[in-house]
Amino acid sequence: MRTQVAIIGAGPAGMCLALLLSEAGVDVAVVERRARDHVISRGRAGLLDQVTVGLLARLGADRRLRSGGLVHAGVALQFGEDRLRVDLKALTGGEVVIYSQRDVMGDLLEIAEARGVRVVFDALDAQPEEVGGDRPAVTWRGDGVGCRLDCDFIAGCDGSQGVSRASVPQPASFERAYDCAWVGILADAPSVHAELIYASHDRGFALASMRSRSRGRYYLQCGSQDRAEDWPDDRFWAELAARLGEEAAAGLVRGPVLEKSITAVRACVIEPMRHGRLFLVGDAAHITPPTGARGLNLAVSDAALLSRSLIAYYREGSAEDLDTYSARALDRVWAAMRLSTWMTELTHVLPGTDPLEQRLRRAEFDHLRHSTAAQAALAQMYVGAPLDEGAAPVASAATRADEADLHDIPGTTVFTGAQARKGYHLNQFCLSLMKPENRTRFRADERAYVDAWAMSEAQKRAILARDFNAAITEGANIYFLAKLFAADGQSFQQAAGAMTGLSAEDYARMMLSGGRSPQGARSIRGGH
Ligand code: FAD
Ligand code: DHB
Repeated sequence: MRTQVAIIGAGPAGMCLALLLSEAGVDVAVVERRARDHVISRGRAGLLDQVTVGLLARLGADRRLRSGGLVHAGVALQFGEDRLRVDLKALTGGEVVIYSQRDVMGDLLEIAEARGVRVVFDALDAQPEEVGGDRPAVTWRGDGVGCRLDCDFIAGCDGSQGVSRASVPQPASFERAYDCAWVGILADAPSVHAELIYASHDRGFALASMRSRSRGRYYLQCGSQDRAEDWPDDRFWAELAARLGEEAAAGLVRGPVLEKSITAVRACVIEPMRHGRLFLVGDAAHITPPTGARGLNLAVSDAALLSRSLIAYYREGSAEDLDTYSARALDRVWAAMRLSTWMTELTHVLPGTDPLEQRLRRAEFDHLRHSTAAQAALAQMYVGAPLDEGAAPVASAATRADEADLHDIPGTTVFTGAQARKGYHLNQFCLSLMKPENRTRFRADERAYVDAWAMSEAQKRAILARDFNAAITEGANIYFLAKLFAADGQSFQQAAGAMTGLSAEDYARMMLSGGRSPQGARSIRGGH
């Protein structure tokens, strides 16, 4: 077997990367150790930042998220009985969404299947090979048979227990193990509060989160050696009530405990996130302490950064972005690490903390309460810094005036940045028709094929009706649209003729005799 990019691990990082690449026409295959059901059943994360939500929307993987996700415009930090609500929306314009990792994985795998992305489950002993050379490969055992996937690049998306990180020789490794862990439950009872509460108490840290309006998700700081059995339900609920403070405890509803698990509180970053043709993505390269919910969000943003670099490589032949991937990803990793270590050390009572440190934590909380600037800095990191931060210049008045001119040409839709964003999925759909197997699937059931793409209904209608002018209004670019009419066996001339309301012969005649007259085609505003 051969592919362009081999991905080890079908977690959030691996599946986001697979979809982003395949959408851009890059051939990928994913090799996953566990069974599909197991991948979907891992119930870990629940808090998605705006970067993750935006990316899932771009992938068309947000239909259920939009109806079932809980949007939170704020988050509470509590010290003893004192609570501070950080207004994420007012401070940053951003929000976070509660939506479980299980559902994220279900949505991603469903779309991957609909788009024909290859995912090999139950692949044992996967190993990245020859990553230092020009001909890397991934080998594994499937059904007792040795398998090999030759490729141009390998993305190690296999989490903290995977094999990929061991293939980076002598990395710099930054680690901190906190002398505590989290015991977490999922309860069939509504959460104690409409938004999350991060509570610091003399007895230890508590977090009130949720998975839905009727299911609370709670975590308590516990001993680093504790096991789930050390926390019978009654002990958990009583401790939670004590740490959440009187006001919250009064509204705490106990319910059947559906799950109970232990999570380590530790930090680890591997640098660089690349060796030769192997790139590390997500938990394979870094683990943040859980406070602040960065792990899945970082995994997704790594995948977005790497996908852009690989797409630039395949489209423009430029390896420049691949060379800076590790540094760019690590900038975000360390920003996330700052947030989660800061939140952990602010809210947890760590063994051996002296009274001065204890008092300083209180002073830090008070500073946060009184400083809007400090709250804004926290909020900005919590909702996730946009991937393009700093890259997009703010349009000046002059730029806006120039743009207005672009929309003043009769009968012409200029392909501006805004049109490109609007038509992104439509153009990617067109691009997919470059592959014969996709053309066959499209022809077999056009409606089903377009439904697998995150296009608006107006875009889908334009495609199905072959209304090219409507498609262009909806963001199509003529060079991408060409893949569609070529798939229909039409020439450029035939398609252009249809768009101008002329037969192919009349269109050819008009073009040969000098093209359309500029009269009446110069300005809508000016009427000439
Ligand atoms: P993983 O999810 O670990 O996926 C790796 C995949 O690779 C797995 O499918 C694995 O089976 C596969 N694999 C491993 N080894 C191999 C191999 N040798 N060959 C082939 N395949 C292999 N993050 C947040 O952002 N928000 C939250 O609210 C949040 N809450 C959390 C709560 C808990 C209790 C826990 C434990 C974590 C939480 N996280 C949260 C962190 C988040 O779950 C992880 O950071 C995220 O799953 C990382 O995604 P990943 O794709 O990098 O790795
Ligand atoms: C969740 C986990 C976190 O680590 C966090 O900071 C917020 C929410 C959760 O699982 O809901």
